[in-house]
Amino acid sequence: MSAPSTYAEPPSNGAVGAELVVRPLREEDVEEADRIMRLAFGTYLGVPEPMEVFGDVQYVRPRFAAAPGWAVAAELDGELVGSNFATRWGSFGFFGPLTVRPDLWDQGVGGALVEAVVSLFEDWGVRQAALFTFPQSPKHIGLYQNFGFWPQHLTPLLERQLAPGAASRPPSYSGLEDRQQDEAIGACRTVTDAIFEGLDLEHEILATEAQGIGDTVLLDGDAELDGFAVCHLGAGEAGSGTCFVKFAAVRPGPKASVRFERLVDACEDLARSHGLGRIVAGVNAARHDAYRRLLGRGYRTWMEGVIMQRPNEPGFCRPDVYVIDDLR
Ligand SMILES: CC(C)(COP(=O)(O)OP(=O)(O)OC[C@H]1O[C@@H](n2cnc3c(N)ncnc32)[C@H](O)[C@@H]1OP(=O)(O)O)[C@@H](O)C(=O)NCCC(=O)NCCS
Repeated sequence: MSAPSTYAEPPSNGAVGAELVVRPLREEDVEEADRIMRLAFGTYLGVPEPMEVFGDVQYVRPRFAAAPGWAVAAELDGELVGSNFATRWGSFGFFGPLTVRPDLWDQGVGGALVEAVVSLFEDWGVRQAALFTFPQSPKHIGLYQNFGFWPQHLTPLLERQLAPGAASRPPSYSGLEDRQQDEAIGACRTVTDAIFEGLDLEHEILATEAQGIGDTVLLDGDAELDGFAVCHLGAGEAGSGTCFVKFAAVRPGPKASVRFERLVDACEDLARSHGLGRIVAGVNAARHDAYRRLLGRGYRTWMEGVIMQRPNEPGFCRPDVYVIDDLR
């Protein structure tokens, strides 16, 4: 899974042209990449103080720490001007956050950073690649369509305030012995492989554990694992006071909806047991019953995104699938 040392050719159509270098992101770039990421989103979203756009939520640092070789940088005249982060979940890849310094927008830098991650996806041979973006933005949709990603269903980002109270901590990855942890990874793989062949969350489970930014809930069934959820807890990708369900899935089949309700119960218990008062879960609206069930539990949308996929196929955004993820 190592990244190539060189990426796409600089864009031929952009004003920055041949001076642009796209290369692997390095440790010494991380602080500036984080600053540009906040400035770019804060500017795009029109936040009065752009740098405050995400509060203490972190995207750049945890993704770089998880897989430095999957992060790409755009450099112009020796200065970092943008970055992008690819993630591989087995046979599935996605990217983001993608950001470019605002004074250089519309000059081909973003396109070069998309091209770089697309070449990683091709090297990895993923079956399906995707991203989450702003559905109301012709520029964003147009940019990604240039690379074969097509808009599909909305992905609402949902949240729910959790009433304070004692909750018992559900079984989770961090509570297991080493050998049991290996078995748990295999059992999680069996769950996701049954949903989409080759889908594998090992990277996410291990990265969350190694960085101490969350835990993976394990939903035991009668004979096999019924489901699991990689949850980020507080500071990190979730942000203070929040449990962010980065990825959750249950075994498919006739009882999948029941398993899904149990898994969400367990995620809420995990959040409460860590003293967190808010839970965030994004779910693609093509997973109709999963979406409806979260709404039925009192979850409300705080932002809409749209998923774009390459090729333009459902992947694991299907009505029979009970998966929570938003690919942010
Ligand atoms: C989104 C972002 C990364 C794009 O970077 P950029 O350097 O401005 O993008 P580029 O100049 O490479 O490409 C913009 C593309 O949008 C296309 N575009 C712009 N308006 C368009 C429209 N109305 N319809 C279709 N395409 C459009 C342009 O044609 C261009 O493609 P081209 O190079 O083939 O002409 C940058 O604007 C940014 O950092 N935004 C804030 C953070 C953000 O939104 N990140 C992405 C979240 S998913």
